[in-house]
Amino acid sequence: MGNFDRYARLTARLDAPYAVIDLAAFRHNADDLVRRAAGTPIRIASKSVRCRALITAALERPGFHGVMSYALPEALWLARNGVDDILLGYPTTHRAALRELSEDPEAASRITLMIDSPEHLGYVRAAATGAARIQICLDVDASLRIFGQHLGVRRSPLRTPSDVAALARTVAADDAFELTGVMFYEAQIAGLPDTSPAVRWVKRRSAAELADRRGAVVDAVKQVAPLRIVNSGGTGSLEISSADPVVTEVTAGSGLYGPTLFDKYDVFQPEHAMAYALDVVRRPAPRIATLFGGGYVASGPAKKSRLPLPAAPSGLKLLGTEGAGEVQTPVQGQSADRLHIGDRVWMRYAKAGEMLERFDVLYAIEGEDVSELKTYRGEGKNFG
Ligand SMILES: Cc1ncc(COP(=O)(O)O)c(C=O)c1O
Repeated sequence: MGNFDRYARLTARLDAPYAVIDLAAFRHNADDLVRRAAGTPIRIASKSVRCRALITAALERPGFHGVMSYALPEALWLARNGVDDILLGYPTTHRAALRELSEDPEAASRITLMIDSPEHLGYVRAAATGAARIQICLDVDASLRIFGQHLGVRRSPLRTPSDVAALARTVAADDAFELTGVMFYEAQIAGLPDTSPAVRWVKRRSAAELADRRGAVVDAVKQVAPLRIVNSGGTGSLEISSADPVVTEVTAGSGLYGPTLFDKYDVFQPEHAMAYALDVVRRPAPRIATLFGGGYVASGPAKKSRLPLPAAPSGLKLLGTEGAGEVQTPVQGQSADRLHIGDRVWMRYAKAGEMLERFDVLYAIEGEDVSELKTYRGEGKNFG
């Protein structure tokens, strides 16, 4: 059990459920992301962190620069709290926040919006009624089209150099906007564990296709405006994305925490920096202990990979008939026989920052010390 014994000892006074972050593991993971990015600055995906103290801690380390925010109200909040380079990773239709951004030149100088259609640009123009110039990044579809299949996420309709250059011209022609970047998120490389030869083949094929297309798109857009940002990648693709010289920055967040969805990649293995503790409240049968709470299922396709993993004591698993429950989570295995009422079982979450929507505080373990870090939720913030 190693670390979990130490976490349990150091947090024995707390009542479960509660979450811990191992700061040594977090730093180790940060350094490993920097190593993998090989000199390309890393923008921190805030959705995968959701704790300001940890975003700041990562930003202070060499190799990290800027935040990829997921919601405009979040971006405004971060900008007003000292974060100076914020790229919104996703389109926003938040009218009040768009108005606020356009009325705040300081925030507008720190935040770049993500756009992928003239319709969305028009929406922003109508909502952003203030005078501040708004920075714009174009999201380019980085999926792989092969054998009639679409491999990757369904996000941007922009794909070819001419598609992207056309929208770039529309942005550049409007004084309300400044075109500052393009982004390519290759989810089918970054977000897929290396579980089969077919997956590895798709990743290689996709990386080759994207390297060619990304270069052509960037050339086409640079004819229209100089670009400060060519963003690509995620935790699962740092070495591939940063190898392309046109890429000016990569994004990563999940790799700081090392959730279970990142357990099966060939070229890196983050340390398991975050976990949550649940208490045994019942022993319904031999080899089964039932825990209070714990049904924290991650977003995405509703599959087993989204369920939490009992991590310690070792050898426990969820029951197929109940999974991770709303207020009761049975776990099964030989080691359940050594568990008593009030004992702790440690769980790992499937994704990264999303887990912190369940907790106000993260207990940060540093050697033998424990301190409290507020999560976004603990700061009263919920950005969806
Ligand atoms: C646009 C974008 N970039 C990068 C990432 C990578 O984030 P992470 O490193 O947390 O996997 C994501 C995750 O979904 C994303 O949506």
